Amino acid sequence: MSDPAKKTTPTGTANNEHENENSNLRKFFISALKDIYFAENAIIEALDKMQEAATTEELKDAFEDHQLQTKKHVSRLEKVFKLLDEKPEKKECEAIKGIIKEGEEVIKSTEDGSMTRDAALIIAAQKVEHYEIATYGGLVQLALTMGHDKAADLLEETLQEEEDTDYHLTEIAETSINFEAEQED
Ligand SMILES: [Fe+2]
Ligand SMILES: [Fe+2]
Repeated sequence: MSDPAKKTTPTGTANNEHENENSNLRKFFISALKDIYFAENAIIEALDKMQEAATTEELKDAFEDHQLQTKKHVSRLEKVFKLLDEKPEKKECEAIKGIIKEGEEVIKSTEDGSMTRDAALIIAAQKVEHYEIATYGGLVQLALTMGHDKAADLLEETLQEEEDTDYHLTEIAETSINFEAEQED
């Protein structure tokens, strides 16, 4: 029987960096950062198209605001790479490509200027946010486990903005857009 106590990470060490520089967990962490770095850059582009396609000013503004935040997410990730002594690199992420593609299909399959377009775009955008929330939520915890507290703080700031965006999109949908979409033919 294995003894879990033997594998416990030392806690309360004076040195924050109690991580093995070549550990598989660190490799995974770096690779996941490259994945979300690719995703954030792809999202900046996608938000351009979504903003252009949206019907209401309210949703256009929400996409514009989040695009500005997303640019900050990219620069925070660059800081995280620096803290870890790694070069910021993009690793192609099939998951986000698929989610973004779904958003493009929503634009094609809904009428220009319709509220149904906005109702559908909100759901597409929330799929992006949920992907990011899952990723950042996990990365914050890994950063803490590995003793990278500063990196964890940066990732946490972004996580908070993704969660706020998700909440704001739900609010927009529920206060007006969904009802107006329901009135359409
Ligand atoms: Fe983001
Ligand atoms: Fe986001």
